[in-house]
Amino acid sequence: MASTLVALALMCSVGIHGRAINSVIGPYIAYAERYYMCEPDNRPLPWRWWVRTTHFNPVRPKVLPRITGNMTSTSGDLDDSVWVKTIVDVRSNNQWKENAFVFKFNNKACQIAKVNSPGWYEVVLKKREVKGACIFKPGVYEFHDAPIDWNFPNVPIMPYGHYRARVMIGKAENLYACWVIEAKAVPKVDQHFHLYGSYPIYLTAFAQMCGSNRGLA
Ligand SMILES: *[C@@H]1O[C@H](CO)[C@@H](O)[C@H](O)[C@H]1NC(C)=O
Repeated sequence: MASTLVALALMCSVGIHGRAINSVIGPYIAYAERYYMCEPDNRPLPWRWWVRTTHFNPVRPKVLPRITGNMTSTSGDLDDSVWVKTIVDVRSNNQWKENAFVFKFNNKACQIAKVNSPGWYEVVLKKREVKGACIFKPGVYEFHDAPIDWNFPNVPIMPYGHYRARVMIGKAENLYACWVIEAKAVPKVDQHFHLYGSYPIYLTAFAQMCGSNRGLA
């Protein structure tokens, strides 16, 4: 469900915003360039992170960037009673176009992370899973020189570009975290797929989907 909405929102943006129609969409490699926090008033929230990443090398696109750092929590479990809101901004004409996509889920933050960001889940959370439960206690989650894959398995194609995602999690009125990831999606070079050939057909299909699902996005 979550992934369907993500795909739909991305597709709809292609159809709706005239400018985006010219951008190219297709199979992609996603990689993060910067990780930081967006804590309001610089007030420390209970779940924080410090992440450094190596650079993505376009000449060797299959070599995953490696991250070092920690995610540290002082209170509040990260489980499926937690909500998650992700605001994605898109870089366009040297500025951020804010709120290009907004995804809000009133609960299931842990599952959503597990299903939609399996790369992050694998590196940071997986080793602390107890009996497969999606429940993570306050503590220090460290990672050192860990290869990270930021591709979203449920979103097979994306408009290429430069993105800034602000990920907020919380419970009821309590904000647990405000994390920022700046990332890029570039064409997946080793796949010279059929999508380009049938691009107009895809656009038509997207337009129809967006038209009939406008309430969703
Ligand atoms: C997490 O990383 C930051 C930045 O490197 C560091 O200052 C902090 O001490 C680390 N936290 C823990 C609990 O190791």
